[in-house]
Amino acid sequence: MWMVDKHGFNMINNLIVRYILQEELDDVMLEKIIALKQQHWNYTRDSHKQWIDENLYKNEFHLCVELSTGQIIAYLNVVNLEVFCNEKQTEFLGVGNVCVDKMFSGKGLGLLLIQIVDFFIRQIGKPAVLLCRKNLSEFYNKAGWHEFYGKTFLLGRLYSGGVFLNYNSDAAVFHIQRNF
Ligand SMILES: CC(C)(COP(=O)(O)OP(=O)(O)OC[C@H]1O[C@@H](n2cnc3c(N)ncnc32)[C@H](O)[C@@H]1OP(=O)(O)O)[C@@H](O)C(=O)NCCC(=O)NCCS
Repeated sequence: MWMVDKHGFNMINNLIVRYILQEELDDVMLEKIIALKQQHWNYTRDSHKQWIDENLYKNEFHLCVELSTGQIIAYLNVVNLEVFCNEKQTEFLGVGNVCVDKMFSGKGLGLLLIQIVDFFIRQIGKPAVLLCRKNLSEFYNKAGWHEFYGKTFLLGRLYSGGVFLNYNSDAAVFHIQRNF
């Protein structure tokens, strides 16, 4: 798993990418995902579990990047969304809960994770959207996503965070009717 390069730094030389359907997620993986999410979102284990149970449907995906030890060091989920875009209903993918283990931050893993999900999205061939904190705009710009400058309503309320798309859109309004 670890190698030391010629400068004496630890290098990751083995990564495993796994897409897991929500309906196939076992308890071991669930607990690992929750442990990683808890590094970034300060909720109890039960609250994270409840969120996953309530907000991810059985045919939606967890994307896990693991070391060969099985430790998950980067994670996100992908859901199916109906987005009302300029009053027209369109099928989208929604990317959420993007996170990297704090021990591994700043090494390019976040960008790699987005590249991996870009490949997945490209195969499915749908537009994709993600919602994030405003201060992450630079990260998603670097990842090649496009900031959406129209208004986004999430569950009927104007969303005040950053909205990014995997394509450039000049639409005025998005309505998204679920969390992800
Ligand atoms: C955001 C996050 C996924 C980035 O992962 P990471 O592996 O540390 O990021 P990378 O090393 O791939 O960073 C790539 C580039 O983005 C920049 N970047 C990363 N996080 C950034 C941030 N919060 N603000 C501005 N730029 C950022 C890096 O400086 C780097 O730029 P460079 O290539 O010019 O040096 C990670 O910090 C994280 O898990 N954050 C907490 C969870 C979160 O808020 N997720 C978003 C929910 S949608």
